[in-house]
Amino acid sequence: MYAQRMGSLPPYLFARIDAMKAEKIEQGVDIIDLGVGDPDLPTPPHIVEALCTAARDPKNHHYPSYAGLPAFRSAVADWFQHRFHVTLDPKDQILSLMGSKDGIAHIPEAFINPGDVVLAPSPGYPVYRTSTLFAEGTIHEMPLTAEAGFLPVLDDIPKEVVAKAKLLFLNYPNNPTSAVAPMKFYDEVVAFAREHNIVVVSDNAYSEISYDGYKSPSFLKADGAMEVGVEMHSLSKTYNMTGWRLGMAVGNAEILAGLGRVKTNVDSGVFDAVQHAGIAALSGSQECIGEACAVYKERRDVLVNGLRSLGYQVTAPKATFYVWMPVDDCMAFAARLLNEAGIVATPGLGFGSSGEGYVRFALTRPVERIQEALDRIAGMSR
Ligand SMILES: Cc1ncc(COP(=O)(O)O)c(C=O)c1O
Repeated sequence: MYAQRMGSLPPYLFARIDAMKAEKIEQGVDIIDLGVGDPDLPTPPHIVEALCTAARDPKNHHYPSYAGLPAFRSAVADWFQHRFHVTLDPKDQILSLMGSKDGIAHIPEAFINPGDVVLAPSPGYPVYRTSTLFAEGTIHEMPLTAEAGFLPVLDDIPKEVVAKAKLLFLNYPNNPTSAVAPMKFYDEVVAFAREHNIVVVSDNAYSEISYDGYKSPSFLKADGAMEVGVEMHSLSKTYNMTGWRLGMAVGNAEILAGLGRVKTNVDSGVFDAVQHAGIAALSGSQECIGEACAVYKERRDVLVNGLRSLGYQVTAPKATFYVWMPVDDCMAFAARLLNEAGIVATPGLGFGSSGEGYVRFALTRPVERIQEALDRIAGMSR
């Protein structure tokens, strides 16, 4: 019944984990879910208020404009200037998205012909791979290893692969490894993209979730980046708005026009009231971000210190709300966590073949639950 391409789609790992989790809950197990990266904290009240006000205004009840409200795009430009010191023209260098997933899922369709190569990190956010499959492109996984700081080694990509490459996905701060990228790396990426005529898509969905004074840069700050790429941003993690579906693609106008053309054919934009809430988020006080990061930091410290005291080797992340822990066999370890301790963690393999040897914990549960998880892990057989 289904088209052939459905057969090549990997089973969405989170859906499978959800099914296993549901089974355990049915058996009465008190599950501690450190699996999916969905903040447990609520959206700040001033943003919710802005939505309510905008939702009551009939002016906002119509089809939205495709590119996004001019006022939303202006708010994005102001935020970008202030946060990253990058100037964007709201007219054609900003496109609203229904979450950054929307942009990631559709951008290959604008640039990839059957057989063209998309370079994507492994481990990596699964949608890089599936969006490539939908566009009938071929994925080339760039391994992210601890030795290389979880940055792809561009020189390691075989020449014949580079020759066919049309698009490159990057993601820093990184899901799932929580690694961050120095500007020097972005300079290398720009040179590589220019030399080989490759469109760069920098996924910066976790730009605001960071600790210990670290501030994630924008790829677009690198010299020449605006000529070769775009960056995906999201309000999901920054303002605890995963359910609202709001993000933006910013950067090179021609690349954005390609993505925009695809999207005008498949969706009708973001509900205007949600964009008004987005304006309130981006232009209002940013204190809520610091508060959320302080919560994640406390959880990070409890989890990392606790795991270390149990003999596990873990690095404290500078950014994102993930802890990427080396283990021998990721599927076996995740299964043991679930069966012996009632803990959901994500096996690294779910993010690509180079994710083997790791599990990912998300810091999206209260500190008491994380402490409880550590107590249970302490009771597991080793
Ligand atoms: C690396 C990365 N990019 C993009 C997204 C998509 O987020 P959203 O569509 O909510 O903006 C996620 C969500 O988990 C992610 O981890």
